[in-house]
Amino acid sequence: MTQRLIGTISSSSHAYEIEIDNGMLTDPKFVRHISAFGPRFAIITDDRVAGLYGEKLCSSLSKHGLEAYLFSFPPGEPYKVRHTKELLEDRMFEKGLGRDTCVLALGGGVVTDLGGYVAATYCRGIPLIMIPTSLLGMVDASIGGKTGLNTDYGKNLIGSFYQPQKVFIDPAVLRTLPIKELKNGIVEMIKHGLIADTNYFEYLEQNSKEFLKLNPEILEKAILESCRIKQTIVEQDEKEKGKRHLLNFGHTIGHALEKVSHYSISHGEAVVIGLIVESYIAMQLGYLPKSAFERIRKMIKTYDIPLQISTPFPPNDILNAMSLDKKSRRGEPHFVILEEIGRPLPFDSIYCTPVEEIVIKDALQWMNDALCRH
Ligand SMILES: NC(=O)c1ccc[n+]([C@@H]2O[C@H](COP(=O)([O-])OP(=O)(O)OC[C@H]3O[C@@H](n4cnc5c(N)ncnc54)[C@H](O)[C@@H]3O)[C@@H](O)[C@H]2O)c1
Ligand SMILES: [Zn+2]
Repeated sequence: MTQRLIGTISSSSHAYEIEIDNGMLTDPKFVRHISAFGPRFAIITDDRVAGLYGEKLCSSLSKHGLEAYLFSFPPGEPYKVRHTKELLEDRMFEKGLGRDTCVLALGGGVVTDLGGYVAATYCRGIPLIMIPTSLLGMVDASIGGKTGLNTDYGKNLIGSFYQPQKVFIDPAVLRTLPIKELKNGIVEMIKHGLIADTNYFEYLEQNSKEFLKLNPEILEKAILESCRIKQTIVEQDEKEKGKRHLLNFGHTIGHALEKVSHYSISHGEAVVIGLIVESYIAMQLGYLPKSAFERIRKMIKTYDIPLQISTPFPPNDILNAMSLDKKSRRGEPHFVILEEIGRPLPFDSIYCTPVEEIVIKDALQWMNDALCRH
């Protein structure tokens, strides 16, 4: 069943729809939906998704008389760089594509970020449609208008805020997504429940088995709600001054863990530890009840997400990494503090606060003691 969510970004008066429908991408009617967005299409994707869905989409657009080209690059974060963007742009110019071209960014977050950024600057900006195919792409990367790429100086340092014309989500494509990638997305969905909506957290809690079996009805509802939560937060704070800090829950510690482990821990694995350690901080500060903390821990287990580190990390290394993070404020890490599941503390509408070093160190010590395999 098609479910629609109308996304409106209030400060830019730009409205777009997020449409979710199981099986949509392989339905012949999909081409008709797409055809409304222009005579020419540049499908930007990675090689893996190209083989699974991109080539078919390109040929079915061509069969229906639309001009469509497929541009793909190797999968993975190392390709989310300027060089790939230049190559894609040059190949698009070689085909003579101009302002009347619409970019279809078909893939995981790497593709939606990079493809979105190509659309944002090609001929000073051309229409963009997001078709996320990883769970993380669906519930996180394709929502909120952030596009960009990594440089040697850091991740996502170059980019722009650029809103799509529409986001199409087909949960059926998750059947080919590796389970590890699926879990990366689930972590962000759990985060959305924690920072904004107890009922949603409960929904995820109660439907974990069906979710992991990829039951389409459960997926559609869970993905839609997650998009709605992120969309609502972003709408209220498009440029990251207040409410958007909530989306950083679990990421203050998570980013530091990724960095200190030299990225041997994946983003999802790091953020899930971040969620629990930052919840621990809230508990130690006397806000989050112990029962809620235990419930969060249990919920993560329900989804069979590893809550483990393979070696202890010296708390000072993590503190250093946190103070160097581009999201720290004047070198001081800030934390989202929960007072209940789904209820963060507002702190004068900033939704994050600095925390005394001794409390952070104590939480990191707990992490090393309780979550380390050795
Ligand atoms: N713009 C934002 O607001 C935002 C938010 C969160 C994350 N991100 C970005 O998203 C990126 C991570 O996204 P990701 O986790 O989707 O990584 P990804 O795009 O690298 O995808 C992960 C892997 O899954 C494969 N894949 C994707 N869909 C598939 C499918 N349906 N079947 C089989 N394989 C499939 C890809 O080829 C890739 O190998 C990071 O670069 C991150 O910075 C952006
Ligand atoms: Zn994240």
